[in-house]
Amino acid sequence: MTERRTRTRRTLFEREAELLAVDEALDRLTGSGPDTGGGLLALSGPAGLGKTTLLAEVRRRALARSCTLLAARGGEQEQSQPFHVARQLIQPQLAGRPEAELRAALGSWYAIVGPALGLCAPAQG
Ligand SMILES: Nc1ncnc2c1ncn2[C@@H]1O[C@H](COP(=O)(O)OP(=O)(O)OP(=O)(O)O)[C@@H](O)[C@H]1O
Ligand SMILES: [Mg+2]
Repeated sequence: MTERRTRTRRTLFEREAELLAVDEALDRLTGSGPDTGGGLLALSGPAGLGKTTLLAEVRRRALARSCTLLAARGGEQEQSQPFHVARQLIQPQLAGRPEAELRAALGSWYAIVGPALGLCAPAQG
């Protein structure tokens, strides 16, 4: 199975530098050294240059290291929708949880973040 997947996954050409940056970021994220922590990688390029393909490889490498993966898409159409990306990222993790768990997860932000992300109804009054 693994062998078959390896064979059917297309080779990425000319992405050595980008993948090195990805691996370094994942090292920092998952490592135990002093240089541990989160980071931001921004990938940009003209239409069709391979952004989605590269992101798929980023996801694959993150999951291979047992990272929790949250994903969202935003585009021009969605710019007017409040919290569009935040909702996509967080709703799947928290939707359907009992109120007590939501309150524990969101702490003092519950009344603000909960309704904004569609996790609970806004407080009355
Ligand atoms: N590094 C690569 N090596 C070989 N093929 C690639 C590479 N990157 C992308 N491709 C191929 O090029 C095509 C376009 O890639 P992709 O859809 O990832 O581009 P994109 O930048 O996301 O495009 P868009 O701007 O339209 O969203 C796909 O068929 C993909 O398989
Ligand atoms: Mg794309």
